Amino acid sequence: MLREITLLCAIIGPLTVIGQSNVSSVEWWRDTFIYQIYPRSFKDSNGDGVGDLNGITSKLEHLADIKISALWISPIYVSPMVDFGYDIANFTNIDPIFGTLDDFTKLTTKAKSLGLRVLLDFVPNHSSDKHPCGFQGSAWEWNAQRNQYYLHQFAVGQPDLNYRNKLVQDEMMNAMKFWLNRGVDGFRLDATTHLIEDSRFLDEPVIPNTGLPPTDPGTLDHIYTRDQPELYDLIKSWRDLLDAHGGEKKIMLTEAYASLENTMKYFKYGSNAPMNFMFMGEVTNKSTSIDFKRTIDRWMNNIPEGNYIPNWVVGNHDNHRVAFRLGIKRADQLSMLAGVLPGIGIIYNGDEIGMEDLNLTYAQTVDPAGCNAGPNRYYLYSRDPERTPFQWDDTLSAGFSTSNVTWLPVNPNYKTLNLAAQKTSNVSHYAIFKKLVALKSQPIMRNGTTQLILVGNNVLGVVRRLPGVNPVVLLINFSNAPSIVDAASWMNVPAELTVYVASVGSQIMPGQRRNLNDIYLPGAASVILN
Ligand code: NOJ
Repeated sequence: MLREITLLCAIIGPLTVIGQSNVSSVEWWRDTFIYQIYPRSFKDSNGDGVGDLNGITSKLEHLADIKISALWISPIYVSPMVDFGYDIANFTNIDPIFGTLDDFTKLTTKAKSLGLRVLLDFVPNHSSDKHPCGFQGSAWEWNAQRNQYYLHQFAVGQPDLNYRNKLVQDEMMNAMKFWLNRGVDGFRLDATTHLIEDSRFLDEPVIPNTGLPPTDPGTLDHIYTRDQPELYDLIKSWRDLLDAHGGEKKIMLTEAYASLENTMKYFKYGSNAPMNFMFMGEVTNKSTSIDFKRTIDRWMNNIPEGNYIPNWVVGNHDNHRVAFRLGIKRADQLSMLAGVLPGIGIIYNGDEIGMEDLNLTYAQTVDPAGCNAGPNRYYLYSRDPERTPFQWDDTLSAGFSTSNVTWLPVNPNYKTLNLAAQKTSNVSHYAIFKKLVALKSQPIMRNGTTQLILVGNNVLGVVRRLPGVNPVVLLINFSNAPSIVDAASWMNVPAELTVYVASVGSQIMPGQRRNLNDIYLPGAASVILN
């Protein structure tokens, strides 16, 4: 969707990094990056090999340095840790493995002093039961204590809450209020697709010929357990709660792996960011410039009329890292797109330094989704490869822990791939990401138009324009061979522009002037000019 231009401010010439501007107090998340922290893997402060709150607090300077607007912390509540925190035993306390409520206060206090907002992962639909693995098999589990079956849509240890019961709704509202009163700036709501079920307890139809094992949830058409109409009223009730809290506006991000139509519905019920997973689910390292254009256009063209903000999820703890999905040479490509396209970029810890997946053996696998799939299929489901500890430096355990035993192994590539090393280099994922965050705060990104243009056979161009200033031009070469293109004519942009930033490995240096009539793009390179 092309947005109308509002001319607020004009700067002539190439962009300079001016840091984050004062974002609107109303929708502070507009045109910013939000940063996801997987707490077990970010920083361990007490040497037990598992990341914790004090660890996060000790590293907040990194987030202030890259100038993200908010950090979203995956669950830190009391939990048997069957699904590493997405199974919750107490919604209003911190699991001892992560610390205490006082530690949380220290974290939010320091974050605020650094201008960072803190978002929690709110997991409205799963309580906990002490079963080990078990994503597959019957969705019904017998509980001898209650003498009843309970439904679970994820691990056996994640009983589904019954939102048709008003007491459940009230209790979860109370839990949200508890954290709002502790100063959180919003929530990422987990697995909202699954919030409410059809009340008739009907069996779901079997999808014929899936080729999947009969116990795989993918064999059923989940018409009675997913995307039920009543879920949107729950979302609205939580929106109202956030709005009633006062102070700076609170953000709601919703995680729904749903159809585009159902995803977009969340906007109307108060989600500020129905998470856009297209960069993870719809494009691969085989995708062409046309595939990317179609994917991005589909999202933009389907945003409902109104003041709704697009968002672009680059990676998360449930999907392979971008460096794995698109390949190491394209590790910057998605954050560059998220940086240039209008709206919110959502980045997963480690992607800002181009961290890579680590393949693990079945014996090393701890993710229930992997271990339950068995030794022959675990690697298809396990999310451990993208959850390895953050690589801070080249010291023991990559500076993540003082222990040499960590809950998941550290990727051995940490000796060269780490934040400290990237900070000393002019060409690094870190340097690129920092410039992308700075770019997002420029008036042209907030107020300029957006156009996606196929430039020749292999190159996708994205151009942002605002009268009176040079356009911002992103060129991505989807071929692994070099391409020379006349971007100036195809995109109707000036014949000469300055490189603002270019992907690692492209050999293109910021500050260089380039002739866009026949610009040379090395294989797999992405470059932003202005
Ligand atoms: C979505 C979370 O992102 C994922 O990690 C978790 O396993 C499921 N919800 C179940 O809670």
